[in-house]
Amino acid sequence: MTVGKEQVLSALARVSAPGGRTLTDAGVLSDVVVTDGKVFFSITVDAAAVKLWEPVRKAAEEAVRAVPGVQSALVALTAERAAGAAPQQAAPAGAARRPAHPADNTPPGVPGVAAVIAVASGKGGVGKSTTAVNLALGLRDLGMKVGLLDADIYGPSLPKLLAIKEKPQTVGGTRLKPISRYGLSVMSIGFLIDEETPMIWRGPMVMSAITQMLREVEWGKLDVMVVDMPPGTGDAQLTMAQQVPLKGAVIVSTPQDLALIDARRGIAMFKRVNVPVLGLVENMSYFLCPNCGERSDIFGHGGAHKEAERQGVPFLGEVPLHMTIREKSDSGLPVVATEPDGEHARIYRDIAARVRDQLVGAAGAGRAAPKIVIEA
Ligand SMILES: Nc1ncnc2c1ncn2[C@@H]1O[C@H](COP(=O)(O)OP(=O)(O)OP(=O)(O)O)[C@@H](O)[C@H]1O
Ligand SMILES: [Mg+2]
Repeated sequence: MTVGKEQVLSALARVSAPGGRTLTDAGVLSDVVVTDGKVFFSITVDAAAVKLWEPVRKAAEEAVRAVPGVQSALVALTAERAAGAAPQQAAPAGAARRPAHPADNTPPGVPGVAAVIAVASGKGGVGKSTTAVNLALGLRDLGMKVGLLDADIYGPSLPKLLAIKEKPQTVGGTRLKPISRYGLSVMSIGFLIDEETPMIWRGPMVMSAITQMLREVEWGKLDVMVVDMPPGTGDAQLTMAQQVPLKGAVIVSTPQDLALIDARRGIAMFKRVNVPVLGLVENMSYFLCPNCGERSDIFGHGGAHKEAERQGVPFLGEVPLHMTIREKSDSGLPVVATEPDGEHARIYRDIAARVRDQLVGAAGAGRAAPKIVIEA
């Protein structure tokens, strides 16, 4: 049986909301997305009233799950503004809203997670996901307990890069258990949604999906959570930067000028929301011929290094463009895990060590200290 938005909305019209209204009348619903029996939407409320609304969120989820044809329901509460912030003009019902986040208002941390870092770039296809996976493994090799979160809800890559086909299990009915791979705790929207299903996400939906993956997953105790970001500087990045308690961001760029312009945009975005840029990685920095081992600088090697200096951010290292990295990455066998003694693994571990040093430095510079236990 196929289920549509109308059936979902009529189920929601029977859920009561605070103030004697029904959920559909309260003007708090985002657009309701229904794909393939899976239902997603968010309820946007004042941060001060979150506790009051939590039972409503649960009731909404239950009501939707009871609709014939619905396989799963993902309902998130999104705070309209941070508690204590000046009230905002109410946006019209259903309109995309962005919560106010004064730069000095750090969002609450993820319980048990000492530090959350983003791997980002302004541009697509520069190797963020490949870097995120191998950086996470490099941090693991330094003795840290590491989580890996795929925030690329538009094109999740972690199921492929880690060859994960299983679905996460639920704990206590609602919370999800991350998938364990190569010693990393991993979560991706791609574990829940069919890879072939094109997803259309609107502003509030982006926020709820990411918030839920952060806060409704049993991450356990982690020294660091590496977040693989979607390309660009749009809604998802802003959400992450504003709603996620980021300790820092790693920017990935290729050496070409064009990619660097985008990297600059990425750096500027994180600086604007007061998230320290931990450094820049130059990916596909030079070409290493897999046959003869000869090196050629096809993209004009060194651009990212110079750019890092110009922007006053640390340079974290260069990763060559190499067939092995691509082949291993795309077949779910990341080099750091599967060729730990190789040159590429060494490069990623060096980058990981610099990221760790930057994190410790960022803590020393007055931000809440990540409790990183290193048993290298
Ligand atoms: N250093 C490298 N050498 C060779 N191939 C690489 C390297 N880094 C990434 N790739 C390959 O480039 C492609 C894009 O990489 P990846 O998916 O990591 O980029 P991305 O920035 O996350 O992309 P998107 O913006 O789509 O999320 C993949 O096929 C990957 O295997
Ligand atoms: Mg990616």
